[in-house]
Amino acid sequence: MSEQFRWGILGAGSIARKFSGDLKRLPGAVCYAVASRTLEKAREFADEFGMPVAYGSYQALIDDPKVDAIYVATPHSFHMEHTMACLKGGKPVLCEKPFAINAAQAQAMIDTSRTHKVFLMEAMWSRFLPVNLQVRQWLSENRIGTPLFLMADFGFRAQPNPESRLFNPQLGGGGLLDVGIYPISYAAMVFGHTPTQIQASAWLGSTGVDEQAAMILTHANGAQALLRTGIRVSTEQTVRIEGTQGVIVVPNFWHATEAFLYTGDASPVHFTAESGYHFEAAEVMHCVRAGKLESDALPLDETLAIMRTMDEIRTQIQLTYPME
Ligand SMILES: NC(=O)c1ccc[n+]([C@@H]2O[C@H](COP(=O)([O-])OP(=O)(O)OC[C@H]3O[C@@H](n4cnc5c(N)ncnc54)[C@H](OP(=O)(O)O)[C@@H]3O)[C@@H](O)[C@H]2O)c1
Repeated sequence: MSEQFRWGILGAGSIARKFSGDLKRLPGAVCYAVASRTLEKAREFADEFGMPVAYGSYQALIDDPKVDAIYVATPHSFHMEHTMACLKGGKPVLCEKPFAINAAQAQAMIDTSRTHKVFLMEAMWSRFLPVNLQVRQWLSENRIGTPLFLMADFGFRAQPNPESRLFNPQLGGGGLLDVGIYPISYAAMVFGHTPTQIQASAWLGSTGVDEQAAMILTHANGAQALLRTGIRVSTEQTVRIEGTQGVIVVPNFWHATEAFLYTGDASPVHFTAESGYHFEAAEVMHCVRAGKLESDALPLDETLAIMRTMDEIRTQIQLTYPME
């Protein structure tokens, strides 16, 4: 592998656009090639981001020997198919969240990565933001004592459209898989990824997908995460972690640029840092260059456990997808 790390983008949609823009902020990363189902769209995307190569099929990108890793940015319902095609073609993968539709799909993807010995990571980009790394540091230093409550929410106001990725069950629509995964993943980061009790309640809309949901995850030591998600109303999008000796607050935690640490009567510690998609890309480059098959910061077993939690929530709210 040369000093430059050549990224391939699979699917020229809206998140691919943000990721490709942020790659320019990462030294050594090259936005090298994009693949779309239509060559014209791929060429337009490549022109926009100054990429030298555009492909009119996903397989052509996978077959390009110059590509060092592929970012899978298609709707949830295609993550398994596209990720497995990349892995079988020997290409390391950063796969958008949610990693898959369910835990069975996630398991198949992880098995493929391990069988073919090719790197794989879920693109839960919030994990790699400096602010959230600082929160982890505060927790590991016991700055708030034992964390026992976590409140987190991610709801946003989407335009109802039965055909859109967010409302269409064929594309894995609903709030839980799209944005509910953020508070669930954050709770897993703080309390661990194996809650002992999961309680969920949701409202399923006219297309049959969850338009809003509330969840309580309880852990072995009694710690509880109270989580909300939805696609009809905008929520505060804040994480609040309450410990026996203090509190951490992270506004806009999924794209965090600041966090507050309260440990007494004094003013809070205020930590600030930039956000962006290049931090998760840096983790992939570091791991692939080191010959690793997964990230220590977001191991595949954790990704799988989070998918299992979402499966249990969907069982409770009686939401199944047509492809299951
Ligand atoms: N990390 C984040 O902040 C973030 C933000 C938004 C979304 N996401 C995740 O990223 C994924 C993509 O979301 P998005 O908002 O970018 O979606 P999008 O704009 O709809 O783009 C998805 C792309 O997937 C490709 N695709 C392949 N088969 C498709 C099909 N049958 N129907 C529609 N598109 C198809 C299309 O690319 P071509 O036409 O070029 O082939 C399309 O442009 C989702 O899993 C979502 O959860 C992550």
